Amino acid sequence: MSRELVYDQELSIKQALVAKSPDMVAQRKRMHAALELQPGERVLEIGCGTGIMASEMAASVAPTGNVTGADTSAAMIAMARGLCAALVNVEFIEADAADLPFANGSFDVVTVTQCLCLVSNVEAAIGEMFRVLRSGGRAVILETDWDTLVWNCTEPRLMDKIMAIYKDVYIDARLPRTLSRLLKRAGFDIRGRDQFAMLNWTFDPDTYSGHQIDFTMALVKNHQVLSVGELEAWLESIRMAAEADEYFFSLNRYIFSAVKP
Ligand SMILES: C[S@@+](CC[C@H](N)C(=O)[O-])C[C@H]1O[C@@H](n2cnc3c(N)ncnc32)[C@H](O)[C@@H]1O
Repeated sequence: MSRELVYDQELSIKQALVAKSPDMVAQRKRMHAALELQPGERVLEIGCGTGIMASEMAASVAPTGNVTGADTSAAMIAMARGLCAALVNVEFIEADAADLPFANGSFDVVTVTQCLCLVSNVEAAIGEMFRVLRSGGRAVILETDWDTLVWNCTEPRLMDKIMAIYKDVYIDARLPRTLSRLLKRAGFDIRGRDQFAMLNWTFDPDTYSGHQIDFTMALVKNHQVLSVGELEAWLESIRMAAEADEYFFSLNRYIFSAVKP
């Protein structure tokens, strides 16, 4: 049974901070390369979060193309609307990935980053991606296999406990393993599969792992499975690894590119 991850205002602010970090800028650069957007294209981003990717894609498809961002979180949609207030070719709507309010074939491109892992009916969501794409349209998806996370600390027992909670917030924390099959079953042709690692060698707050510390502290506190003392000991054990010049964070991410025949 997975614990629900509520993207409320507090989490949306954390997401906005991590989105600006150099690691996330580099991740979006990889997504832009996979998307190969052209002026005039109609793009849908599912699970658009803070709207930062949508704002960047809007520039790639301007002046005649447009970007629609969909997300179930009202807090995220409010943040995205604020970020993109000055852009005329972007709009955001509250909508569920598994039940999109768009006609068949409405988009040239559908993209989703780190959202399908949170969707309870992922097959329905992939079916919806297929339905709203035109024939020849492209889907680009980024997901993580959380079993690939290696985060060094001097208290591995505490890290194991934290990671068990951490993985539990995802409906499917290992989605890349089954995504090829799910995409093919929905009717997609797979055009490319790529992998990269979020890799941090230093204990720096403005890295992906630095922001994950903050995120993990909030998450674990909310679920009250570990005591405050254990949480502080976990953080201290990461600091101690860093002081010994053994800070190491590595997490594999996968980008799938597919086409609707
Ligand atoms: C980890 S965040 C990723 C946000 C953004 N794509 C990014 O990479 O920064 C996951 C997002 O998916 C949204 N989400 C979760 N379940 C969803 C669903 N069923 N349909 C649409 N969005 C959903 C959340 O509200 C959240 O904004």
